[in-house]
Amino acid sequence: MSLAPPADLTPAAAPSPTAAAAAVGTPMPHIMAITSGKGGVGKTFVAANLAAALARGGRRVLVLDADLGLANLDVVLNLYPKITLHDVFTGKHTLDEAILPAPGGFSVLLAGSGMVEYSRMTPEVRDQLQALVAKVSPRFDHVLLDTGAGISDVVLYTVSLAAEVLVVVTPEPTSLTDAYATIKVLATTQGRRRVHLLVNQVRKPGEGRTVRAQLQQVVDRYVNPTLETRTGAVRLELLGEVPTDPAVREAVLRRQLLLEAMPGTAAAVALVNAAVRMPA
Ligand SMILES: Nc1ncnc2c1ncn2[C@@H]1O[C@H](COP(=O)(O)OP(=O)(O)OP(=O)(O)O)[C@@H](O)[C@H]1O
Ligand SMILES: [Mg+2]
Repeated sequence: MSLAPPADLTPAAAPSPTAAAAAVGTPMPHIMAITSGKGGVGKTFVAANLAAALARGGRRVLVLDADLGLANLDVVLNLYPKITLHDVFTGKHTLDEAILPAPGGFSVLLAGSGMVEYSRMTPEVRDQLQALVAKVSPRFDHVLLDTGAGISDVVLYTVSLAAEVLVVVTPEPTSLTDAYATIKVLATTQGRRRVHLLVNQVRKPGEGRTVRAQLQQVVDRYVNPTLETRTGAVRLELLGEVPTDPAVREAVLRRQLLLEAMPGTAAAVALVNAAVRMPA
């Protein structure tokens, strides 16, 4: 299958390269944003279970629910947070009070459902989020930012706070096209040259490699020639592939981590393997 080149992407909402660079500052290498082009591809599921796999390996891990407007990490983890990011932003509670232990042995900072007002990124929220990430990240070996889908300014800003980015994609053509759009915007507005891929819901072993190769081919054809030679080419790196597994839905319905509820399932094993390949 070949991917049709999507229409040129110059969203009004995307930050300018200078704004993005200013926002990025020098993010620490262990901060990874987990994002996607298309919604519902498994970002939150991947973030929570990758965190559990890393925590099991003895790492100190924080997952920040950065999908501020449509947060649902609390739902997946069956947590009912009394203190959320909103309380930290408004000064009602301290950051330490808002960092909660999650079932998988990692920590979470939850947005809760009362943060609809953050679905637009004001300069104030930008500053608060950046300060929060800078303050909290030295305490952990891995900080995962579970972002929303797409290329809105909220999503792009959150991704800009992370040194590494993981794009979750499924083999569906719509997901591939949207992943390509995300990768192109990240390369052109944030100067990203390394993008990690997690191919979720594969139907056969090896499909992740095929998806990576397809996306790399389109990037090589339509994005890399437009970039300045001295800044290098965009390289997609496969962190892992996770099969479609009925156990995932079952675990989500039971509001449990797959790694805890059904650790021997194909999807759980695949996520443990992906965690091993996480950049240090
Ligand atoms: N490997 C898989 N096998 C089977 N079902 C899966 C798999 N991965 C995800 N799903 C299903 O997809 C649903 C959506 O996953 P999730 O909420 O993690 O997506 P998301 O990308 O975070 O969505 P959003 O864009 O809304 O934040 C899950 O509840 C689960 O039912
Ligand atoms: Mg999600």
